[in-house]
Amino acid sequence: MTVTETRVITKRIHDRPEDSWTIDGALASGAYEGLRAAFAMGRDAIGEEQVKASGLRGRGGAGFPTATKWSFLPAGSYPRYLVVNADEGEPSTFKDRMLIERDPHQLIEGIAIAAFAIECNLAFVYIRGEFALGYERLEQAVAEAKAKGFLGMNILGSGFDLDIVVHRGAGAYICGEETALLESLEGERGMPRIRPPFPAIEGLYAKPTVVNNVETISTLPHIVRMGGEEYAKLGVDRSTGTRVFSLSGHVKRPGNYEVELGVTFRDLLYSPELGGGITDDRKVKFFIPGGASSQWLTGADEHLDAPLDMDFLEQNLGVMLGSGAVMVFDETVNPALVAWRLAKFFADESCGKCTPCREGTGWVEKVLYRIAHGQGRPQDFDMLLDVCDNISPGVTTAPFAQTTICPLGPSVVSPVASLQKYFRDEVLAMCTGPSTIPVSAS
Ligand SMILES: Cc1cc2nc3c(=O)[nH]c(=O)nc-3n(C[C@H](O)[C@H](O)[C@H](O)COP(=O)(O)O)c2cc1C
Repeated sequence: MTVTETRVITKRIHDRPEDSWTIDGALASGAYEGLRAAFAMGRDAIGEEQVKASGLRGRGGAGFPTATKWSFLPAGSYPRYLVVNADEGEPSTFKDRMLIERDPHQLIEGIAIAAFAIECNLAFVYIRGEFALGYERLEQAVAEAKAKGFLGMNILGSGFDLDIVVHRGAGAYICGEETALLESLEGERGMPRIRPPFPAIEGLYAKPTVVNNVETISTLPHIVRMGGEEYAKLGVDRSTGTRVFSLSGHVKRPGNYEVELGVTFRDLLYSPELGGGITDDRKVKFFIPGGASSQWLTGADEHLDAPLDMDFLEQNLGVMLGSGAVMVFDETVNPALVAWRLAKFFADESCGKCTPCREGTGWVEKVLYRIAHGQGRPQDFDMLLDVCDNISPGVTTAPFAQTTICPLGPSVVSPVASLQKYFRDEVLAMCTGPSTIPVSAS
């Protein structure tokens, strides 16, 4: 239990707290060396060789291999766009915000490397509207990068041109879903698109588009600089490298920690330089391992000792590492109350396009409310499972299907499935209210 951080993409932030976001601070700590290396090695060597060899998987939630995503772009089809997903709306996830505010040049360098690799001359950053400081710093950094010749025409004499548009969102969680994001960027209402076609084929303005998360893109300068194979030595199996975990809840030291994948949840929660242990030295009752959309784990040894390894967690415990947000709840917490609060978020944020999500999230929220507040009826819990089964058929048996276009609806199922798996008796004990619904006179 003495794991410490492995700082790759958060190194500059920690080394230069006084000026990491400025062009001078960034240049004094190696910024844009990865871009020079990228130009020297040539376009094909980046995606096909280095990023592929690195094993980098998307840090936005789904963990899709980055090089594979880029390879789906149809040959000879231009223009192509790169869109950086900086919406970061997943409750308790706050790593992208730090990366943008404290090291915008690392992100810009990553964008330039990715854009060069996929032959894109116009990139977009869709940034969460509430990130006022991040927007200001990113705009400033784009201007600084242009002034120094890291963006614009004929970058560093390479013959490659690139401009970046920074676009502010307006506070909708759904706009983090990549196709809703593209709709919003085009000026439409943020609602997911039916796939296929996937964005790689028909994305922004119906052109081939790659959407990648801020952390994914921020990792690229280091992959190019270190070499993909060297990067892949960090981490474990198919979960290579490091990830920044946003740790919150009942830990003594909440915050963002960059650790090598493969360390355990116990390491993350209890190491003195990471989570530092549980508040007031109480016990963990349960924790959410990968953002609000993820199913939960408990304080059992086999959960705390599970590695932060995307495949291991999915295959053995049926949970995802998702957005890298770990929320910890101690033994004083009522899990039904947490489930209700999460359901309320998803009900508020449902865009309304798909009926099972529009109706189901609200229904789940209302029933969880009464359970969590001591007014649950004996049949409520099984009814909840039934409602969830209409959103994600097979709710209690992973992997399950979905009846919605995007995974927002199924996200409301995660807390319910977790209650069913680990806290069914505790929840049933709360369901002692009247067993019939009062029927209105009408
Ligand atoms: C409802 C919803 C919200 C999402 N929010 C975000 C987000 O804020 N940031 C993000 O990077 N990905 C988010 N995603 C995942 C994106 O759709 C997409 O998978 C990701 O941006 C791809 O980047 P990556 O391959 O680098 O991980 C969200 C997905 C869903 C379904």
